[in-house]
Amino acid sequence: MAIKNLTFLIFPLIFSLLMLCSQHLAHSASVFSTTTGGRWVLLQESIGISAMHIQVLKNNKVIIFDRTDFGASNLSLPDGNCGYIDETVRPKDCTAHSVLYDIASNSFRPLTILTNTWCSSGAVDPNGTLIQAGGDKKGERVIRSFTPCDDNSCDWVEFSAPLLSRRWYASSQILPDGRIIIVGGRRVFTYEFYPKNFKIRDNIFLHFLVKTKDPQEENNLYPFLHLLPDGNLFIFANNRSILLDYTRNKVIKEYPVLPYGARNFPCTGSSVLLPLQLNRGTDMAELPQAEVMICGGSKPGSYVKAYMEHVYDEASRTCGRLKVTDPKPNWSMELMPTPRVMNDMLLLPTGAVIIINGATNGSAGWNDAVNPVFHPFLYLPEENPAQRFVVLNPSNIPRMYHSTAALLPDGRILVGGSNPHPTYNFTAYPYRTELSLEAFYPPYLDPLYVHLKPSILGVESTGKTVSYKEMFTVTFVLTLYRSDLGISVVMMTPSFNTHSVSMNQRMLVLKVVNVERLSAYGYKVNAIGPTNVNVAPPGYYMLFLVNAGIPSHAVWVKLR
Ligand SMILES: *[C@@H]1O[C@H](CO)[C@@H](O)[C@H](O)[C@H]1NC(C)=O
Ligand SMILES: *[C@@H]1O[C@H](CO)[C@@H](O)[C@H](O)[C@H]1NC(C)=O
Ligand SMILES: *[C@@H]1O[C@H](CO)[C@@H](O)[C@H](O)[C@H]1NC(C)=O
Ligand SMILES: *[C@@H]1O[C@H](CO)[C@@H](O)[C@H](O)[C@H]1NC(C)=O
Ligand SMILES: *[C@@H]1O[C@H](CO)[C@@H](O)[C@H](O)[C@H]1NC(C)=O
Ligand SMILES: *[C@@H]1O[C@H](CO)[C@@H](O)[C@H](O)[C@H]1NC(C)=O
Repeated sequence: MAIKNLTFLIFPLIFSLLMLCSQHLAHSASVFSTTTGGRWVLLQESIGISAMHIQVLKNNKVIIFDRTDFGASNLSLPDGNCGYIDETVRPKDCTAHSVLYDIASNSFRPLTILTNTWCSSGAVDPNGTLIQAGGDKKGERVIRSFTPCDDNSCDWVEFSAPLLSRRWYASSQILPDGRIIIVGGRRVFTYEFYPKNFKIRDNIFLHFLVKTKDPQEENNLYPFLHLLPDGNLFIFANNRSILLDYTRNKVIKEYPVLPYGARNFPCTGSSVLLPLQLNRGTDMAELPQAEVMICGGSKPGSYVKAYMEHVYDEASRTCGRLKVTDPKPNWSMELMPTPRVMNDMLLLPTGAVIIINGATNGSAGWNDAVNPVFHPFLYLPEENPAQRFVVLNPSNIPRMYHSTAALLPDGRILVGGSNPHPTYNFTAYPYRTELSLEAFYPPYLDPLYVHLKPSILGVESTGKTVSYKEMFTVTFVLTLYRSDLGISVVMMTPSFNTHSVSMNQRMLVLKVVNVERLSAYGYKVNAIGPTNVNVAPPGYYMLFLVNAGIPSHAVWVKLR
């Protein structure tokens, strides 16, 4: 029932859009001529900094930061504070390079970073604290944490040099035991863990990172990491991937090469672990199948050509899907409506993937791309191959290098950043440093569907947490329950987004036991918590209900 279930949830909503769009996919020149669905709202003309890295926190605030060494931003530090402990920073910089954005009030306040966070990584620990790793120069071995608070008292805390290697363009992934693994970085071919076990030197060489580095261009930075249901780590870099048992430093499996280009920085594409379906099968201990999808990127050489010759190759139009838990998996290839590089890929609570931001030509890097793609694409993983892509309504703000996107608990997509310059440059043409924040409202937020939208009243469980394999109850109100389709209960992690990578992004479709009607519009749904810590590491998740393709707002639940 599970695969079908999702298909049917998505299908009624966008059936009409599909009919419109599929005709246009046949003629790619006119692919944007009649797009429909979704809308854009400008939230802030300027938040004073450019949103290069973003993380949604469990208290509905969003931490946003860029870098500290490229001049004054447009936001002053509070109380006339100035300066960073990094001497490479211009001495009299009294501006902020990080803000905390409050979703409900659409407001923000400056935060203080002490060392350079440029091109760093992050993951939220089981307590809901953001653990951010590395950056450049004085910041390259620094771990920083940010613990959400209910007042305005919290700020960054920096721990000097606990990292063993420089982590610039590395990726982070939360692990089943609550530790974080940090993989790769520029001219770094190792992985390490946080928190540190100081008794062992846990900086482990991984030959795969050497093998996937192209001369000159690299093309293997910000590797894509996905924790698989068997507890091993899927790592993708350039055009290759492995399954790593990081507890023994053993490569268990090498997957086939993904053809048609490179996918990691600077030939930047994006990757998602498609929703893990725990509502399949009958055995509660059964592990779900896992499938990775990677879209976009550039031809190797595109970066050098753009940088040296100002010639901008067309980006890759391809997506590959790999059933990573199959015994003999192979990539199954598809074409996006248009080529795309520096695209962000985010899972939506409906199980669809939104492909947003980026450009048609060139690569990541300073001024290395042209032709912004303004239209998000919606991808429906369970749909017939010819009908999987839907082109949605465009923004009018280019979101090029150093732009970001994140799913909010209300189902919107927060979009910010874009700065292809090594300084803040508000006059650069055509792609200035963007300080704005926008929200994209996917089609499911259309007021047309409000009668199908569940509102969660509460989550009832033992100990106020969702526990592994244990039943819990979600009460909700809903005007029109489509009992023929059933309610989906999904849990989603908030991901750390930068450079088109959404680290730790994960979606679980839970097993539903039953739905009971309590009153005219009142219901409760009983669902079973995730299988184990490998399938879903402990921590805070957004819990959504989905009725006929229309998601509720999320409530935060702690899984342990
Ligand atoms: C940045 O600040 C300057 C000086 O206050 C102002 O003139 C400019 O409009 C601001 N730019 C943006 C993009 O907000
Ligand atoms: C999480 O919080 C608990 C209780 O406050 C504390 O004992 C534990 O050390 C924290 N874990 C981490 C990883 O900070
Ligand atoms: C994969 O990448 C390597 C290194 O850039 C390249 O030599 C090889 O041709 C690529 N393979 C395919 C099938 O694209
Ligand atoms: C983008 O790539 C296409 C295909 O190679 C090319 O025809 C076009 O001129 C490029 N656009 C720019 C602005 O470089
Ligand atoms: C794997 O998929 C690629 C791309 O679709 C294809 O070229 C190749 O022939 C496939 N290999 C096998 C062994 O099926
Ligand atoms: C901003 O970018 C423009 C190119 O669009 C360039 O001419 C100018 O020098 C840049 N300004 C700064 C301060 O880098």
